[in-house]
Amino acid sequence: MYNDRSISDVHGNSVLKQHVKVPIPEPKQDELLVRVEAVSLNPFDWKIQKGMLRPIMPSKFPHIPCTDVAGEVVKVGSATKGFKPGDKVVAMLSPLNGGGLAEYAAVKANTTVHRPDEVPAAEASVLATTGMTAYQALRRVGGLTSRPIRNILITAASGGVGIMAVQLAKLLAPNSHLTVTCGARNFEFMRSLGADELLDYRTPEGASLKSPSGKKYDLIIDAASGIPWSTFAPNMSEDSKVVYLTPNLNSLLSVIIRKLTFSKKKAALLFTSQNKEDLDFLVHLVKEGKLKVKIDSKYPLTKADDAWAKCIDGHATGKIIVEPWN
Ligand SMILES: NC(=O)c1ccc[n+]([C@@H]2O[C@H](COP(=O)([O-])OP(=O)(O)OC[C@H]3O[C@@H](n4cnc5c(N)ncnc54)[C@H](OP(=O)(O)O)[C@@H]3O)[C@@H](O)[C@H]2O)c1
Repeated sequence: MYNDRSISDVHGNSVLKQHVKVPIPEPKQDELLVRVEAVSLNPFDWKIQKGMLRPIMPSKFPHIPCTDVAGEVVKVGSATKGFKPGDKVVAMLSPLNGGGLAEYAAVKANTTVHRPDEVPAAEASVLATTGMTAYQALRRVGGLTSRPIRNILITAASGGVGIMAVQLAKLLAPNSHLTVTCGARNFEFMRSLGADELLDYRTPEGASLKSPSGKKYDLIIDAASGIPWSTFAPNMSEDSKVVYLTPNLNSLLSVIIRKLTFSKKKAALLFTSQNKEDLDFLVHLVKEGKLKVKIDSKYPLTKADDAWAKCIDGHATGKIIVEPWN
């Protein structure tokens, strides 16, 4: 049997090169074979393909990109408990190996959760990297529920992670005051999600990150990239923290310098971890109608190149989804 349609990328290029036939993976003892109904694309996927994480990722070739899948279990590894063929699931594959952009994927059972009927495959797939990044940034690294936080800033709030972060910030800290940056076209949408103050990142006022009501931020989730520390610092309260989502020279230096100088204004870099409890928590929030998933666009696997190009373009509002069986 073959994975009739899967996408294999060629390292160092910015476009997807081949639609290839590869054997349907045989699930290992601790894995499930999933018929993939939806794949959620992340900027991380094309950054690997461009070779930005060479030589660590990808760890093997041919590399099938993408990590966030939702679908139906068709086969269960011999040592795997709690799942059976026909179960609807959502999973995050290892970023080291990818494997998601295909009709079938072998996923580790310990990073897979059940998906109730109320949570469609496309919405569920978004909860993997995107949902968990927002949740872990706010809670684990940002300390949202463990220290007094009144004022929060989320940059690039109209992106996949930002949309989740805005809603989760309001759910986890309902009394917090939330300022966001995005393009003016998304102001109404951001208000509908709970944002209190809006900054258009294309204007000088927005780029300064200054709260219109003069608030100093206790927590900043930086889903944009390249904003210098000198822009954040004057807008931060005494005991505050910036959580960077994008590892680059700017964020790495910022974290190191704050550590070396024992600064009260802190900086941290998040690396999302595959966490079954977090994923399950998010799936249930969606099931209960407390968390909404915003899909920007959907593509069949034969148009995965278009989905890929849109992801690289970086101007989606919400998530880009590929549906291999449509
Ligand atoms: N550390 C980790 O483990 C981890 C995990 C997930 C994501 N990330 C990183 O987090 C970042 C955000 O990911 P994402 O999936 O949310 O990205 P995304 O969905 O591609 O973000 C696109 C959105 O960002 C807005 N935007 C772009 N530049 C902006 C700026 N300077 N200020 C305000 N808004 C801006 C765009 O608005 P317009 O269309 O109006 O321009 C668009 O709506 C990426 O760098 C990604 O690699 C890291």
